[in-house]
Amino acid sequence: MDTAQAMTGMIAHRGHGFREADDIYGGCFNHAAIAALRSFNQRFSSRPLLRSELALFLASMAAFNRHTIGGIAILAGRLSDQVLPLLPTSGHEIGAYVLDAAVDEYGLRETVTHLELARRFAEYLGIPVAEIEARDNACPAALELGDTLFSWYRDRPVAFALGVHAASEVTSVEEFVPWHDIFLKFPQYRFSRELPEFAYMRAHFVHEPDHIHGAKLCIARYLDVLPGESGLLREGVLMYLALYQRMFQQLDDAIFDGRALCRHG
Ligand SMILES: [Fe+2]
Ligand SMILES: [Fe+2]
Repeated sequence: MDTAQAMTGMIAHRGHGFREADDIYGGCFNHAAIAALRSFNQRFSSRPLLRSELALFLASMAAFNRHTIGGIAILAGRLSDQVLPLLPTSGHEIGAYVLDAAVDEYGLRETVTHLELARRFAEYLGIPVAEIEARDNACPAALELGDTLFSWYRDRPVAFALGVHAASEVTSVEEFVPWHDIFLKFPQYRFSRELPEFAYMRAHFVHEPDHIHGAKLCIARYLDVLPGESGLLREGVLMYLALYQRMFQQLDDAIFDGRALCRHG
């Protein structure tokens, strides 16, 4: 009887984290940042980009993602450290969801690092690494988001950083699944699905749906253990999405409306 009651309690408690995770993901998908990205993607799919537009787009993605690889590996460790005292025998399983995404980013599974994949992809499109890495070629919000991510993963509370990470997995799926098809659609890009240089799109197209699912399970299990962290986690989600929205509005304006990027404010 005691065992049955304990089990029922566990299931009810476990359900709380899952409901929260559903709600947080619903909030992400309905956020204006996703609408901004989808609107960009629609125009992105309407014509091939000119060389200068590709350089802006790829340099912005490089600036935005600069600290993601190291950041998520650090988050995986910080997450385990926070949860392990409360769940000594299984707390590491919660950090493992984030570690799994880091394994792909570090190129430990089936490809080289994602940074290297991005460089090869850009070079195939005729944009050399130096141009991709030049900060002046990225839009201001991409620089701001990339720089901010460095400290968000390291210095902000674990729950906040986990919110940032989960939101970034949501946006990744909304990026790479359409982009994969867009870069195959226009012969001007000269890609085919099996081309080695296309691995940047192919790897994300294949793995991002697993990442988004892993991050959701991670949030659900984390909030089961630490329900009081929900507010901080949601704050991380919203801070990330607000900057992300600005980044895609800037790219949309600059690439498709021909508006000059304002670099001073
Ligand atoms: Fe990646
Ligand atoms: Fe991912």
